[in-house]
Amino acid sequence: MKGILLAGGTGSRLYPATRACSKQLLPVYDKPMVYYPLTVLMMAGIREILVITTPRDRSLFERLLSDGSHLGISLRYAVQDRPGGIAQAFLIAGDFLERSPVCLVLGDTFLHGPGLREMLSRAAELLRGGLIFGYEVKDPERYGVLSLDAGGRVTAITEKPSRPASSFAVPGLYFYDHTVRSIAEGLVPSGRGELEITDINRAYLDRGELSAELLGSGYTWLDMGTFEDLAQASSFVRTVQDRRGGMIGCPEEIAARLGYIGKKDLIRLAEAQAQSSYGRCLMRLADGFGKDDA
Ligand code: TTP
Repeated sequence: MKGILLAGGTGSRLYPATRACSKQLLPVYDKPMVYYPLTVLMMAGIREILVITTPRDRSLFERLLSDGSHLGISLRYAVQDRPGGIAQAFLIAGDFLERSPVCLVLGDTFLHGPGLREMLSRAAELLRGGLIFGYEVKDPERYGVLSLDAGGRVTAITEKPSRPASSFAVPGLYFYDHTVRSIAEGLVPSGRGELEITDINRAYLDRGELSAELLGSGYTWLDMGTFEDLAQASSFVRTVQDRRGGMIGCPEEIAARLGYIGKKDLIRLAEAQAQSSYGRCLMRLADGFGKDDA
């Protein structure tokens, strides 16, 4: 499976913070926002990732993440000229996808919870149809919302409904088979001029090939689109990291745990940022790695 990290958009709800720099580069506690969705893809075991940015910010993302080789993954870059909708990602990705299934994660998605890695790697085994998630929130009208039947199966998805059919919002994480590109090619822009991800999901639903996994209360999902969301995400990360030790959303740690890089690589990466608490945490992580991991 390949991955797309969609990190374009306007970020207008975060003006003036995003007037000069992309939302996904803003810090969420001790690391740039984009680290969180990147680690979601990595936890799914995905190693070939296309990062889609605005033309303005592409070079900044490249400076931050380079080609991914320091993490044992491959990162490529593409631009979205203007925010033409989330589903446009599959058209921009074009040949990158070949005939591979794909996982799309939005660049402002924060997801954390027990067994996340197992859940994601299971999802990444998908070969046919689409898989989305549902997460219970108190303000579903801000999101795509699931309608579910008595058996918990999806019957409809409605984008930002004024009267939500359920309190299950759809987080910005989607798994699709290789046909997603041709579905995207057949989409027409919505009233707001965007290619809608909800229309992709509807196409799978109409074929009877869409499943939704409901994320239980042990999971935390936040989309980091407003100042309130940013502050919540930052304080969540700070609280959990301070209490438990370790890090949330640390690509170097995931790369080491998955065996993509060894102890020596981890030390080198830690030394390059030793002045920050992030770097010091990487160093502690490296210390905990056995000699065999060198
Ligand atoms: P949104 O939060 O819907 O849009 P935005 O990021 O432009 O912010 P605002 O509403 O404050 O202006 O986007 C969700 C995510 O998807 C976010 O990470 C940006 C990304 N995105 C794109 O990259 N391209 C797009 O065309 C759209 C609509 C979103």
